[in-house]
Amino acid sequence: MSLGIIVAMEEELEIVLKELDLKSEEVYAGMKFFRGDLHGKDVVAVVCGIGKVNSAVCTQILVSVFGAKKIINIGVAGGVGVDIVPGDIVVADSLVQHDVDATAFGDIVGQIPRMDTRYFESDKSLLNAAVAACKHVEGHNCFVGRIATGDQFIADVAKIKWLESTFNALACEMEGGSIAQACHVNKVPFIVIRSISDNANSGAHMDFEKFKGIAVENSSVILKYMLSHL
Ligand code: ADE
Repeated sequence: MSLGIIVAMEEELEIVLKELDLKSEEVYAGMKFFRGDLHGKDVVAVVCGIGKVNSAVCTQILVSVFGAKKIINIGVAGGVGVDIVPGDIVVADSLVQHDVDATAFGDIVGQIPRMDTRYFESDKSLLNAAVAACKHVEGHNCFVGRIATGDQFIADVAKIKWLESTFNALACEMEGGSIAQACHVNKVPFIVIRSISDNANSGAHMDFEKFKGIAVENSSVILKYMLSHL
């Protein structure tokens, strides 16, 4: 059974690649797919690039070409909830695309017209495995809740407040919601696990650079413990 691992940035795959017993490399849509054995599991790991289109294209390739039966997305996110600080982890129980707006037709914001749901729900057993794995990340808190995705790097307190009041979101990022949608239409179980790199406020771009390393390390620890217990 092939398990797809998606990250958005090269630096997020570095640690994974060091631990991967590589079997093959293939390129589709300009993305390099690394197939191999990771902590005893047959996986395909890939950098999808930034944003919703890249991540959706990548997810579809994992499903259609590699036959991925489960998808795990790890990476960084901006913290939205007040108690969430850089280094903390948010495991998504559901995701929404905050930049979808067809309110002119009477849909609520985040609702993709004519789709059966506004929130895409993560797989429960992957979620439980992720939460258990979080216990191995020392010194940081783990939260379970909604992640809001959009093609925007959020660096604005008013926007964070809006994400919280509109979607009850704990974190924001740029790929998870579209991975979730692609998995939903393919009926493939998924989980999105994000480590907080910034608080999505006016200093977000500076915090992002400062805390990205810790966030990447956290994600790789979680992935390791998760895979060995799946
Ligand atoms: N990923 C990490 N930080 C982010 C932010 N502030 N906005 C969107 N995506 C992010």
